[in-house]
Amino acid sequence: MELKDTVAIVTGCTGGLGQRICRAFAENGVQIAGIYQHSREQAEALAKEWSVLGPRCVAIQADVTLPEAIQAMVDQVMAAFGRVDILVNNAAFNQTVPFKDLDGLTLELWNKILLANLTSPLLCVKAVAAIMRKQGRGRIVNIGSIAGLAPLGSSIAYAVSKAGVIHLTRCLAVALGPEVAVNAVAPGTMMGTRMTAKLAPDLVERTTKAAALQKPVERDDVARQIVEFCRSDSTTGQVLVLDSGVVYH
Ligand SMILES: NC(=O)c1ccc[n+]([C@@H]2O[C@H](COP(=O)([O-])OP(=O)(O)OC[C@H]3O[C@@H](n4cnc5c(N)ncnc54)[C@H](OP(=O)(O)O)[C@@H]3O)[C@@H](O)[C@H]2O)c1
Repeated sequence: MELKDTVAIVTGCTGGLGQRICRAFAENGVQIAGIYQHSREQAEALAKEWSVLGPRCVAIQADVTLPEAIQAMVDQVMAAFGRVDILVNNAAFNQTVPFKDLDGLTLELWNKILLANLTSPLLCVKAVAAIMRKQGRGRIVNIGSIAGLAPLGSSIAYAVSKAGVIHLTRCLAVALGPEVAVNAVAPGTMMGTRMTAKLAPDLVERTTKAAALQKPVERDDVARQIVEFCRSDSTTGQVLVLDSGVVYH
């Protein structure tokens, strides 16, 4: 797909990875609707920064766990741009609960993490699918994690949510072809994100040292891969691991 002048919705645009995804899109001429939940000032400042690179970029508030908020957000994007070519399901939530602490993984927390990380991407896809089909083209990229491929990460709920995102990607590729391609990235630990800041420093250090390349994952590498998935006309249902060599998928 020729990316110049396409329109992308990127959830979690104020997050450590989301910012880099939006910048990479802007560098490729993609117009951006950056979705944030709480960080209005930051989102508006970032949208201005990306606009300087050329494409039109706007920040839109929405809690992407709520179907009505998602619909209102998509309506705003359509009013502003008139189309949606790309959806990146990047927003997510984590909270550390050691795997062995089953009592600490309450039903409330389990539901919160599954809603934010697995159900929300599905709800966002449902809100844009008809638009993309009508346009005759679309690209969806989900953000998984290596925690979805091996029992790793901040909690069992987080790992299971990301495993779900990976299989959801394959199922949606079947559901949305031939008009829409759906792919996922599965990053390892990235520095400069709020999620990583919430992890115990010794866990981050151990994971990084255990990687074959012995370094954290570069957010810009992940962002560039997302751009390539959107450019590709022949890739769907795939999951690309970017983890410096931890999980061999
Ligand atoms: N960090 C890592 O090492 C790592 C590794 C593997 C995978 N990942 C995945 O990469 C993605 C990005 O992670 P990150 O670490 O960059 O995240 P982050 O820095 O914690 O940022 C989270 C972003 O999501 C937004 N958000 C959260 N809940 C939302 C909701 N209900 N509605 C709308 N927006 C919401 C936040 O908006 P506000 O700022 O407005 O609150 C923020 O923009 C996630 O899918 C994560 O699971 C991260």
